[in-house]
Amino acid sequence: MTTTIIKNGTIVTADLIYRADVKIEDGVIAEIGPNLSGGEELDATGCYVMPGGIDPHVHLEMPFMGTYSTDDFESGTRAALSGGTTMVVDFCLPSPDQSLLDALKRWDNKSTRAHCDYSYHMAITWWGEQVFNEMPEVVNRGINTFKHFMAYKGALMVNDDEMFASFQRCKEIGAIPLVHAENGDVVADLQRRLMEEGNNGPEGHAYSRPPEVEGEATNRAIMIADMAGVPLYVVHTSCEQAHEAIRRARQKGMRVWGEPLIQHLTLDESEYFDKDWDHSARRVMSPPFRNKAHQDSLWAGLQAGSLSVVATDHCAFTTDQKRTGVGDFTKIPNGTGGLEDRMPMLWTNGVNTGRLTMQEFVAVTATNIAKILNIYPRKGAILVGSDADIVVWDPNKEKTITASTQQSAIDYNVFEGKHVKGLPRFTLTRGRVAVHDGEVRGQEGHGQFVERPPNNPVNRALSTWKELTAPRKVERTGIPASGV
Ligand code: URP
Ligand code: ZN
Ligand code: ZN
Ligand code: ZN
Repeated sequence: MTTTIIKNGTIVTADLIYRADVKIEDGVIAEIGPNLSGGEELDATGCYVMPGGIDPHVHLEMPFMGTYSTDDFESGTRAALSGGTTMVVDFCLPSPDQSLLDALKRWDNKSTRAHCDYSYHMAITWWGEQVFNEMPEVVNRGINTFKHFMAYKGALMVNDDEMFASFQRCKEIGAIPLVHAENGDVVADLQRRLMEEGNNGPEGHAYSRPPEVEGEATNRAIMIADMAGVPLYVVHTSCEQAHEAIRRARQKGMRVWGEPLIQHLTLDESEYFDKDWDHSARRVMSPPFRNKAHQDSLWAGLQAGSLSVVATDHCAFTTDQKRTGVGDFTKIPNGTGGLEDRMPMLWTNGVNTGRLTMQEFVAVTATNIAKILNIYPRKGAILVGSDADIVVWDPNKEKTITASTQQSAIDYNVFEGKHVKGLPRFTLTRGRVAVHDGEVRGQEGHGQFVERPPNNPVNRALSTWKELTAPRKVERTGIPASGV
């Protein structure tokens, strides 16, 4: 049995702050209390002991736009641990007409090198009887979330009828649908027009995806989910229009969660107007970065609780890969990195500025998503019996972000030059010390697949409510004679 004690730290969870040591035995938290001893000791003096981050939105070695994203499960999860994230959720993407279970085999092969625990969302990239029939088996295998792309017309996009059918199936099997909410038809038309007008640089990408395409699609997905009687998780909420739709729905009692990304919270649209083509193309992602007013809306949403989770959508392409789109912005592979920087950037721009409390930081980086994914309190908690996925956070440790020292395999960093204060002193993945005094000590293959059971409490509550309020025939006492 291996025993580790985290000593002299202050535990910060989504609801409590208190001083205690943490004893870890065989990868699990065994005891929490004062003056614990025995085993390897990690000194957390001056540090906060928090649940390791969970990033529910990453694309490692993603087949996309004619290439593969460069960070794979090896470099991607190493980057995650370096920044205090101890679990990632990738997206399993079946090709057109491919069996969901065959696609899963492919993802299982890719993830064998992971340094930290992981899971997948299953994408619904096409619709048919086979998909309908395989969805329960996907749930049996520990995947309770299904992703729907409302954009990327001609590739990953699904239409409303397919989405409605899939959402209803999710309801039946106790799963949660996710959406990438942008109106793919409108985007395709705007792209065509911009290109015809000679507007072919990376700024064309931003022009082709205005906030309205996101607001419209977000609202549509929310209403379709409500009609299907299923909760909904909206990924990469980037603008006020989408946030407004989520906020309004939540006020009406609809079960919707919104996920802003650290990139949208801290980087803005001016990046697309840089004179350097590479600079702008490296920041091309969907939805694009927005202006300050949208950023303020996202921060307010985290404060108000109308937005629930901060993720990265980590999908890292090299400069060479981005250059496929020289002369045609529609061919620039969409995606940016962020796995290593999410926690330090959010702490620096959230906790250090007073926009977030420390407990809110833990909630939006770990605990809220652990509950949504139905893996709480195994993950996202500091409790006896929880996995020892822990970050010992030094609020005084500082650095300037630069690609030259990052774990990610690409040749740049969208946060290059940003100064952060607040970094991991230690990161533990199921008890294994993967960051030690800031030094990364990864172990390929240590990461395990985390099974996520269906029927999250919110699914169950919503099903009960929908059943109670379903249309019912009125049993009448007096029936007039017909045909009179
Ligand atoms: O631009 C992005 N976001 N690339 C990754 C795929 C997606 O839409 O999430
Ligand atoms: Zn040591
Ligand atoms: Zn997306
Ligand atoms: Zn994504």
